[in-house]
Amino acid sequence: MSNITFTMIKPDAVANGYTGKIMDQIIEAGFTIRAMKYTKLNVETAGAFYNIHKERPFFGDLVSFMTSGPIVAAVLEKNNAVADFRTLIGATDPKKAEEGTIRNRFAESIEANAVHGSDSDENAANEASFFFNMFERF
Ligand code: RTP
Ligand code: MG
Repeated sequence: MSNITFTMIKPDAVANGYTGKIMDQIIEAGFTIRAMKYTKLNVETAGAFYNIHKERPFFGDLVSFMTSGPIVAAVLEKNNAVADFRTLIGATDPKKAEEGTIRNRFAESIEANAVHGSDSDENAANEASFFFNMFERF
């Protein structure tokens, strides 16, 4: 079990002014920030990040959405980080996300769903190194 996960605050939540509230909820839940940056994806980087979804019908819309504005990317540390962070953010579709989860509180739709959370230890490690080099992680 690895203790890190990777997150993005997605363009909808950044544009809606929820960055501070979301980071506060993440820290209150016991996660420690190990790396963080405010940046913007382009078609190439968003397509590479979501490469696992390239055959899905929503892939084009997802890339358009994820390149529509700046995001905040972060590496988070906690015991059981991947699973605990997925619990904290709630279901992909905010209509199905439990009361009090980040997506329940801040997401707009199944696509504009406020945050990303890694789905496995292997993907957490790959996603963290996709965004951050060794001089950006402490
Ligand atoms: P994420 O990877 O962003 O943490 O989200 P997730 O695991 O909960 O969901 P996943 O199946 O990996 O889907 C990735 C993102 O694609 C968008 N999506 N749109 N229109 C749709 O039916 C649809 N389904 C998924 C969402 O932004 C989702 O988070
Ligand atoms: Mg996913």
